[in-house]
Amino acid sequence: MEGFQRGLVHVIFVFLVHTQMLFDEEISTQMDPRIVCPFATSFVFKKMLYGCLAKMSGNKEHILNLLKEKNYTGTFVEVGTWTGDFAEALLKHTECKKLVCVDPYIFFNDFSYRDSINLKLHSDAEKYYQEAKGRLELVSGADRVEILRKTSMEAVHHFQEESLDFVYIDANHEYKYALEDILAWYPKIRSGGLLAGDDVFSTHIEDYNNNNNMLITFDKDSSTWGVFGVYPAVLEAQRKLGISFTIKGTQFYYENP
Ligand SMILES: C[S@@+](CC[C@H](N)C(=O)[O-])C[C@H]1O[C@@H](n2cnc3c(N)ncnc32)[C@H](O)[C@@H]1O
Repeated sequence: MEGFQRGLVHVIFVFLVHTQMLFDEEISTQMDPRIVCPFATSFVFKKMLYGCLAKMSGNKEHILNLLKEKNYTGTFVEVGTWTGDFAEALLKHTECKKLVCVDPYIFFNDFSYRDSINLKLHSDAEKYYQEAKGRLELVSGADRVEILRKTSMEAVHHFQEESLDFVYIDANHEYKYALEDILAWYPKIRSGGLLAGDDVFSTHIEDYNNNNNMLITFDKDSSTWGVFGVYPAVLEAQRKLGISFTIKGTQFYYENP
């Protein structure tokens, strides 16, 4: 029965998210050729759902290489840690003196986080937290890690201006939140530090709807999906901050002079 209820919540949530996406704004029809209608089994769904078969972000190595090359050894913050994949790589491949992983591990029930990860958090938030914690504890030099179970906007106040070597933004990827994160964490980067983030899936602005978002699915059965507005957020942040980000694959970054 519990499984049935969980399944029902998931179906309702996914349905509402996609309905919201429809009403978010008409999605441009001039989309990347990779774009498919993954759930499109009916006309109604075809109207509602657009997705993009995109590769899971595979270019985080570039950011790791930058950190190694420039020999960053201070405090790093990862905003959005999930099961600790990238956090583990940061610990293994850099000499950071501290890594703070910011992630609340909570289910957002207000449709503010439209992502299949949020659905997983609905039933198993504690499990994913424990998974990240257990995994990071096993890495050598694990005493360098702190998991801060807070949202990005709660956590940002824990850090002084210009105090961080590196901030990696990989939390809620919707335009509004990605922009909020870039603007809030930018002042925390020290001179010479690096601000970077994940999931720039398309640099064609016409792929985004009028709310600067697009719906992306990652696999053929569409079980992994999310609403992404990172690229428009990067553009807006550049305009607001008067700086210029580099985009390499799905990664964006800015080296503070
Ligand atoms: C894509 S996953 C992070 C993946 C991770 N950076 C990696 O590369 O292994 C996104 C994470 O962001 C977290 N998240 C969502 N909204 C957030 C917020 N407002 N503040 C901080 N973390 C958030 C989710 O709980 C989820 O664990």
